[in-house]
Amino acid sequence: PDRKSIAAWDRAKRDGRVRALITAYDYPFARLASEAGIDGILIGDSLGMTVQGHEDTLRVSLEQMIYHTEIVARAAPECLIMADLPFGSFESSPSKAFDSATLLLKAGADIVKLEGGAAMVETVGFLSARAVPVCAHIGLTPQHVRQFGGFRKQGKTADAAARLRTDAVDLAEAGARMVLMEAIPADLAAEITRAVPVPTVGIGAGGGTDAQILVLHDVLGLTSGYVPGFARTYLDGSRLVREAIETYATDVRARRFPQ
Ligand code: KIV
Ligand code: NA
Repeated sequence: PDRKSIAAWDRAKRDGRVRALITAYDYPFARLASEAGIDGILIGDSLGMTVQGHEDTLRVSLEQMIYHTEIVARAAPECLIMADLPFGSFESSPSKAFDSATLLLKAGADIVKLEGGAAMVETVGFLSARAVPVCAHIGLTPQHVRQFGGFRKQGKTADAAARLRTDAVDLAEAGARMVLMEAIPADLAAEITRAVPVPTVGIGAGGGTDAQILVLHDVLGLTSGYVPGFARTYLDGSRLVREAIETYATDVRARRFPQ
């Protein structure tokens, strides 16, 4: 089945087939995700946390996103490749966003993701009219962590929920090909999913979206710091890796390796 083309994602929404995305940042994990049959891979700016060890995503550069996008796109050509526009690479003007986005497409992305609601409607229209597929990321947008005062659930009041609903519809009307919703109430995410014609992706947004996404390191139990409550860990990765390396080091010291 076609996992890559956005048209196939549109068909999946129409047919009610839920799709699964995961983040990946390097060749081995992107390859494994593709072999596991994942539908889409996000090169998320979460790599600032998972790979670089920062507290948030704000320091990630466009050059770093290009580097990781090239690697992941090479590893998983069968999957939809989505790449994040990092903080500072798109907000100041639509043309700046276009310049940054084209570099991610040239690196192998099929679609770029950018954070923001009403403030990004014009930019989404500008990119969409110029051959750049866009996924709009709303709700808990981690690049706004300073403004939010932490990683907090969004859309909790009636006003905030109404604003998110309006933003989603406006972004889709402007040309967004997907809408990603993070950490918002499940009923709101389901309502937005019915209200927009394009596929929605949820994380911490309940079971009513057209697709789900999780951060790879949370899924594999490789996250060293805080793991959000909405994530699910499917592997005791940190323990397994630590034990393997311990065993190797022990073997060296005991002269069991090399043999
Ligand atoms: O950067 C990222 O991994 C993301 C997902 C959590 C949606 O934006
Ligand atoms: Na991100």
